Amino acid sequence: MEATNTKTTSLVLCLVVISTAHQLLHPQFNLPAATASSTSSRSKISKDVHDKTVSFTLYQQETANKTGYLVVDGVDAAGVSQEPAADRRPFGSIYVFRDNLTVRADSSSRVAGVAEGSSISTSFDDDEGRRGLSLTKITVHHRGYRGSVSILGGTHNSSRPSVYPVSGGTGDFAYAVGYVRSSPVSSERSTLTYKMELRLYWPPHAYYAPIP
Ligand SMILES: *[C@@H]1O[C@H](CO)[C@@H](O)[C@H](O)[C@H]1NC(C)=O
Ligand SMILES: *[C@@H]1O[C@H](CO)[C@@H](O)[C@H](O)[C@H]1NC(C)=O
Ligand SMILES: *[C@@H]1O[C@H](CO)[C@@H](O)[C@H](O)[C@H]1NC(C)=O
Repeated sequence: MEATNTKTTSLVLCLVVISTAHQLLHPQFNLPAATASSTSSRSKISKDVHDKTVSFTLYQQETANKTGYLVVDGVDAAGVSQEPAADRRPFGSIYVFRDNLTVRADSSSRVAGVAEGSSISTSFDDDEGRRGLSLTKITVHHRGYRGSVSILGGTHNSSRPSVYPVSGGTGDFAYAVGYVRSSPVSSERSTLTYKMELRLYWPPHAYYAPIP
């Protein structure tokens, strides 16, 4: 344990020394702004490498037939002889949405982003708890951060929280990894509200990665 800690400390020291030396030797590395936005992303990543994580909680406001639509009906899988539920999503159904993200559960609170994506049903019947594959781009403009996070993962049960891995990001979230937990919090009339917790982390190499 002690040895590992010492190793980690020397690695960190070594990285600090390399980074300082790099800046002394290559002062132009601090790019006198090719574009304002990439400079801001660089300083943000640099800050976050030290802070390691950034967390947001936003609320996804989804209204059926207004912000989200079932665009492909799907098929009834062979051998499933179940009384179809009115709101069921048969195998292969595709639901597409573009939902605002608000800062509080109240749908009239400030909009801080948008979640655009789709969900493809992968369950053969409703007993499987509405399994699906979700792919979403979450664009955030909140607490001084601007950028997007893309997530891709499975939903096993629409009434329980789902955890989606972050597959990447853009802008201030370039090179972020982490997860997004989505939990249904309320439904009033046709609007469903999901609490969306973003937990992002930058691996140490992110600072040295190129900026698009
Ligand atoms: C949305 O529209 C579809 C097709 O018109 C309809 O079958 C469905 O009941 C509607 N859903 C809601 C929640 O209004
Ligand atoms: C989403 O937010 C935008 C910007 O605040 C607003 O113009 C739009 O009406 C909102 N959409 C819905 C469906 O509430
Ligand atoms: C989701 O899970 C809960 C508890 O495990 C269960 O009661 C509920 O029926 C499930 N929902 C669906 C749509 O399967």
